[in-house]
Amino acid sequence: MQPHIVFEGWRVTFAFRRVIAGLSIAAFLLLIITASNLAIAQERKPAATATNSAGNATSARGKYIVTEVAKCGNCHTPRTQNGQLDYSRWLAGGPVPYLPAQPGQDWPLLCPRIGGLPPANDAQMITLLTTGIWTTGKPLRSPMPEFHMTRADAEAVLAYLKSITSGRGPTQ
Ligand code: HEC
Repeated sequence: MQPHIVFEGWRVTFAFRRVIAGLSIAAFLLLIITASNLAIAQERKPAATATNSAGNATSARGKYIVTEVAKCGNCHTPRTQNGQLDYSRWLAGGPVPYLPAQPGQDWPLLCPRIGGLPPANDAQMITLLTTGIWTTGKPLRSPMPEFHMTRADAEAVLAYLKSITSGRGPTQ
């Protein structure tokens, strides 16, 4: 009787050990899978962040050129009653705020909207900002300056113009 019980006990213990061993292997595999997934996730994350921050840096440079260097807003933003720029309609287009020095000059009345969806495709916008030539094959009329920006600056300006949503001023 005694050996039988021991044998049975041994069998139970053996079976139990096999279960434990099986579980440990499963847990170990799970750990490896989780760890490798984490490693992949960590590898991917900085890349995505880098792309975003590069895009943000480009747009930030464009904002600097538009608001502080080329002053596109002085002409392309409408003004309030007292002549101040209406930042709630930033780059939304408005009347040309200057008169020609010589009468009779072909002087435009409107500075079109340039914020948000661009008035021309990317290549045409880059050509305008790097060469001063518009979609007509000619420069735009004065007082629109003939910009000769570097391609990188033109791309930054375009990225910033595209990022503008209605009512967003240069400070936001
Ligand atoms: C001194 C005023 C002035 C400044 C500064 C100015 N613009 Fe203009 N812009 C104009 C005027 C005026 C026109 C219209 C020209 C015409 O009708 O021939 C114009 C036209 C344009 C057009 C053509 C839009 C269309 O739909 O026909 C674009 C694009 C443009 N400007 C972009 C810019 C950008 C970008 C900046 C700054 C980097 C800028 N402008 C700075 C006065 C200005």
